[in-house]
Amino acid sequence: MSLSKLKLVFSNQKSLSPASSLRVDLKSSLLLAMIPVIVGLTACNDSKVTLPSADDGLVSTKVTLGDKEPIWPNDDPSIPDGKGVYAAQNCASCHGLDGKPVAGKAAVDLSSKEWGRKQKPVEQYDFITFGKEGSDHPSVQSKLRPPDIWNLVFYVRSLSTPPLTDAEILEVQPVFGANCVVCHGAKGYGNGPLMKGNVLEPSPANFQSFPRFYDRTDETLWDHIANGIKWEGMPNFLGKVDRKSDKTKVTKFDEAYIWKLVGFVRHFHESNLTEDATQALHAKEDKEEKESKDGVKSK
Ligand code: HEC
Ligand code: HEC
Repeated sequence: MSLSKLKLVFSNQKSLSPASSLRVDLKSSLLLAMIPVIVGLTACNDSKVTLPSADDGLVSTKVTLGDKEPIWPNDDPSIPDGKGVYAAQNCASCHGLDGKPVAGKAAVDLSSKEWGRKQKPVEQYDFITFGKEGSDHPSVQSKLRPPDIWNLVFYVRSLSTPPLTDAEILEVQPVFGANCVVCHGAKGYGNGPLMKGNVLEPSPANFQSFPRFYDRTDETLWDHIANGIKWEGMPNFLGKVDRKSDKTKVTKFDEAYIWKLVGFVRHFHESNLTEDATQALHAKEDKEEKESKDGVKSK
């Protein structure tokens, strides 16, 4: 397990408390109302704003109750390794290699974007691991380690929504840098420069948190980026433009671009590399971070 993920497991404990998440605190709301101005983002309040609903509570109780506690992975699940699990478990015999249902075997189309965007990873984990009452769906509980099940979940998700390619990640990176990092931090830990004085309550979301983000559909993430989270310091982006990241071009935050940002947020907690390569990469990053802190690199 990488150092950064160890930190994450610790902070997960905190983020499991629903009380600390989507609360509205009047005093900090007043301060928060000013923050978008401070960072140069105008929060236009006449656009549609969706308040968090009961559905947005952290980790569905259905999964956390009793012995159905999800076992979080040690590192970002690997989509390519999930492909291997999908093949080995013969999921394609009913769901097709590309997620399109095999006639007479299944009805659900795992490759449908519209369907995929409504699925929470944690509920897919629940279904694939334990099956569902009243259905004889094959259950993998006794066959696979939890990290393999997570790899499988994210492979299934990739059938409807392919993850951003490396080129797309490089393209979005500067826009994320100019518009999100101030709060969410370069690596998405929710520790951007604006957090130095702990001015935001609640804290900006930690994109590396499995309990939080595996309990979100892509649709919810889209809604929160597009419309913001009122009183909680998360600005609304739909319809705005970015001119800061590249002086020579204007990026429009239209519907399609907000979906790209959803993909970018997801890239902090899923991986296009194999499990081994993901762990090796994170170990390397941790080492580099440690060396730069110790001043080894500064010579
Ligand atoms: C024997 C056929 C069969 C096999 C094998 C099978 N499934 Fe299914 N699967 C179904 C059926 C039937 C449904 C129920 C919905 C439907 O009728 O399409 C379903 C539903 C699903 C759903 C949607 C659940 C929901 O919430 O709607 C997912 C995700 C899924 N399967 C994943 C998998 C994975 C991953 C594997 C391999 C481990 C797998 N399935 C193996 C038949 C199968
Ligand atoms: C002014 C600070 C600030 C900026 C800038 C900002 N955010 Fe946020 N963001 C927040 C805060 C605070 C929260 C947590 C709100 C809460 O917990 O209710 C949040 C939450 C989120 C969430 C999680 C919503 C959920 O469903 O849990 C996503 C996704 C997100 N931000 C994406 C972005 C993206 C993408 C950008 C840049 C385009 C961005 N944010 C810019 C402060 C900010």
